[in-house]
Amino acid sequence: MRKRLGRLTRGLLPRGLLGRSVLIILVPILVLQAVALQLFYGGHLDVISRRLAGGVAGDVAMLVELVRREDPENRAWLFREAVWRLDLALAFESGARLELVTRPASLPLLPLEEDLNKALWERVRLPFDTDWQSDPRSVIIRVQLPDGVLHVEAPRKRLFTATLYLFVIWLVGSALLLSGIAILFMKNQVRAIRRLADAAEAFGLGRDVGTIKPEGASEVRQAAAAFNRMQERIRRFVGQRTEMLAGISHDLRTPLTRMRLALAMLPRNAETEEDLVALTQDVEEMERMTAAYLAFARGEGVEQARPADLVELVQDVAANARRAGAQVEVAAPPGLPMSLRPDALRRCLGNLLDNARRHASRIAVGVRTVPRGGHGGPAGESPGPLWAEVTVDDNGPGIPAGQREGAFRPFHSGSPSGTGLGLAIAQDIVRAHGGEILLEESPLGGLRARVRLPV
Ligand SMILES: Nc1ncnc2c1ncn2[C@@H]1O[C@H](COP(=O)(O)OP(=O)(O)O)[C@@H](O)[C@H]1O
Ligand SMILES: [Mg+2]
Repeated sequence: MRKRLGRLTRGLLPRGLLGRSVLIILVPILVLQAVALQLFYGGHLDVISRRLAGGVAGDVAMLVELVRREDPENRAWLFREAVWRLDLALAFESGARLELVTRPASLPLLPLEEDLNKALWERVRLPFDTDWQSDPRSVIIRVQLPDGVLHVEAPRKRLFTATLYLFVIWLVGSALLLSGIAILFMKNQVRAIRRLADAAEAFGLGRDVGTIKPEGASEVRQAAAAFNRMQERIRRFVGQRTEMLAGISHDLRTPLTRMRLALAMLPRNAETEEDLVALTQDVEEMERMTAAYLAFARGEGVEQARPADLVELVQDVAANARRAGAQVEVAAPPGLPMSLRPDALRRCLGNLLDNARRHASRIAVGVRTVPRGGHGGPAGESPGPLWAEVTVDDNGPGIPAGQREGAFRPFHSGSPSGTGLGLAIAQDIVRAHGGEILLEESPLGGLRARVRLPV
């Protein structure tokens, strides 16, 4: 039960900080004002309105009584007195009959009409009719007398105080003003937090975000400063590590080259031939591995993105793989021009095809565009941002679902001769493009690597 309630409120409450904080400010204000309004309407306004209506109705009842007793010729003085003493304009329509019609209420929110009708009913005790619509400044009361209809025009001022509307305007206005101020101020706070979140996200993806300017409330500034310090420490740490890796790889290259040359110069005979070939192979493999480490340590960050054709690049990489003896099919549109770092991306796709070639006999590469956000919704329907998607499928053994995450880790290789850097480098490159790379099960039975790049 509590769980369900929690889920319900979570569904109804705004998710963002801005919505929530405005709600936190607004709800107490609205509750306070609702209480104030209830007190005002229920207490003060009712009483005032009833008393004013009673006063007017009493005057009207008195006049009706006097008109009934006075001869028609002598009524003129009464009408004069009423105008200047009571502020009520009288007119008598001799012989007329009152048509009683029910009118819709014309004053929203206020109980004046009802109160006046009730007071008149109690005091006049004759058929009557009140008209609030003919004149915006006064209310016309018509009373049926035995010999005609008495018209009484009472100014609304006698029934009404302007504070009625003022109060409502004040309540609504102050709520609007307060929420406006709250939204304005909270927006700035939220923007500072969002900027921090975006910076952390980008840094997590390996992008260089630089130090972020501390802004907003002191806690947010504190978080920004902490983020900057953390970023600096991580950068220094990664820098040292890659420097060391690069140093080792670089320093190993020269002795390895020397060893390979020396091996080639060694005298060969039937006895040593086999060992020498094996040794040479090992040294060559070590050279390949140190070259890979060096490339990883140096990173591909120096290359700038430029306009290039993704499909052309994919065809190129596939042709290289074919030359290395792989059977590769490519399904791609005629062209897909976009902004990318061609050398880095060539290396990334090369690593994927290389892996597929080593684990499988058949490779299928596909290129298409898919809408970003929705997972494979019908393409072309939503004109929003697109992913350019490159899939590399193979018919090899694949990687079990639980080990796919780990395959991206640097130096994490399933084969003794592998460096474990292929997928790590591929992931680095894709992320530096603002994209993502996923490993899945392929329809061919083996592994599918799905690379998504923002178009
Ligand atoms: N297409 C594939 N099919 C099966 N396993 C794969 C495939 N691609 C990669 N792997 C596994 O993921 C591991 C990591 O790959 P990678 O990062 O390229 O390093 P390396 O190829 O040097 O071992 C490989 O050792 C292998 O076990
Ligand atoms: Mg590899």
